[in-house]
Amino acid sequence: MAKTSKKDNNKESNSAIFIIFGGTGDLSHRKIFPALYNLFLEDRLPEKLAIIGSGRSKLTDAKYRSTLLDAVNEFSRRGKAKKEDWDEFASKITYQAVNIKDISEYSAFKERIEAIQQEWKEKPSIIYYCAVSPEFFCTIAENISKSKLENNEDTTRIVIEKPFGSDLKTAKVLNDRLLSIFKEKQIYRIDHYLGKEVVQNIMAFRFANAIMEPLWNRNHIEHVQISVTEQIGVGNRGGYFEHAGILRDMVQNHLLQLLCIIAMEPPISFDADVVRDRKVEVLKAMRRIVPGKIDSIAARGQYGPGWVEGKEVPGYREEEDVDPDSNTETYAALKFYVDNWRWQGVPFYLRTGKRLFKTASLITIKFREVPHNMFQCEDENSPKQNRLVISIQPDMGIRLQLESKIPGLEMRLNTVDMVFDYAGKTRSDAPEAYETLLLDIISGDQTLFMRADQVEAAWELIMPVLNSWENNKMRNFPNYPADSWGPENAEALIAKDGFHWFNLPETIKK
Ligand code: BG6
Repeated sequence: MAKTSKKDNNKESNSAIFIIFGGTGDLSHRKIFPALYNLFLEDRLPEKLAIIGSGRSKLTDAKYRSTLLDAVNEFSRRGKAKKEDWDEFASKITYQAVNIKDISEYSAFKERIEAIQQEWKEKPSIIYYCAVSPEFFCTIAENISKSKLENNEDTTRIVIEKPFGSDLKTAKVLNDRLLSIFKEKQIYRIDHYLGKEVVQNIMAFRFANAIMEPLWNRNHIEHVQISVTEQIGVGNRGGYFEHAGILRDMVQNHLLQLLCIIAMEPPISFDADVVRDRKVEVLKAMRRIVPGKIDSIAARGQYGPGWVEGKEVPGYREEEDVDPDSNTETYAALKFYVDNWRWQGVPFYLRTGKRLFKTASLITIKFREVPHNMFQCEDENSPKQNRLVISIQPDMGIRLQLESKIPGLEMRLNTVDMVFDYAGKTRSDAPEAYETLLLDIISGDQTLFMRADQVEAAWELIMPVLNSWENNKMRNFPNYPADSWGPENAEALIAKDGFHWFNLPETIKK
């Protein structure tokens, strides 16, 4: 996250070469190039910039640029690009066909880097971006090293997309191999949730407001819910998802990272390692999951067919590249505890799933009941517990739900919202997560990126659930229809503690 308001707060980054492996892929089209283009429009990119997109197909620079223009027009939050802006941006982009598995082809990058260095008469930062399938992360890193491509520990960076490993063991191997080539300070492991505007705002909300800290603990908070629900199914990603499941795809990274931001102790500074130390402490303090007791703290689901907005949609088992007898979960709900002074006894409920009734990412913090109810009113008018609702998307906002007197002759209570709603700003006004993250990579700020120990601690935590779910087949899959709020066992998980999941529109009152 840019920590000052100055645009050019990092002179070191005034020249850069991006080498994007997987430059013709979906991620490049949907996220990376629209984000780079928007940073260019905001004058946030280094003055001297070369972007080398790389893929297997043989393409001319002109053809490559034109496919990128189509992508930017379709996926940029700002809509269609203006011709003169695009032409200037596109002049920085070239294409290099390379088979990433073939080390002999990496000399092409070496020649390009050297040619650019000679032309600019300086040594730019080099950013290797692995926007490829995870099995190639190590191949790329090793080929960069073996072919002696630029690797300066102060100015060279490598960006790794998720999934980072598929379990604790593979994540450790991947960390070891990367760390044998690059230093930790050169490795940028992406979790795009950390780049989302509202997620960054949680830090400001918690640590720039003195009134929050006294309330932010077990004395005042009854429980926390972190909910990331999606209306979409797995679409054309069945091949990937079938081996991942939602626990790996969403919980190990995005949801646990959100939990860390809510539960972390105040860092003493905004230094990347100080912030990340505080997050690792949370993961380490989380109560270990006992293998024989998974069902008491976790529930899984898989979507069946149904109807969404008048259109018939297939069940998970009917999706492309999915086993018709699949045991892969598309929904997960879990209950965690953070065993430390601040959070002892406060449950954190996490849930996420595909093909649910609404797309919404929400964190709800429910405060305790008033210690004594002096309002002699009937049940429906008795004071409700206060809630803080942090809405990450699609609506962005933070609202504090308080009790208030309904105007009139009697003392009757009603819940009202104190709302911070980004002053009418919509998602398209706020920078996309990838814009924030790319800018941080350029300026060398790792605060919003996962450190090796963070990734491993998150895997370690969920391994018992992962193992249990893989080894025990769910006989009643699919167990929730499309367009629902998920399986009944997830309702039961939270209901047995006397709570229920907060669903829209209940949480957000417009
Ligand atoms: C990705 C997951 O990391 O996050 C996807 O692989 C998921 O399965 C996506 O759909 C959700 O991201 P967002 O930004 O749309 O909430």
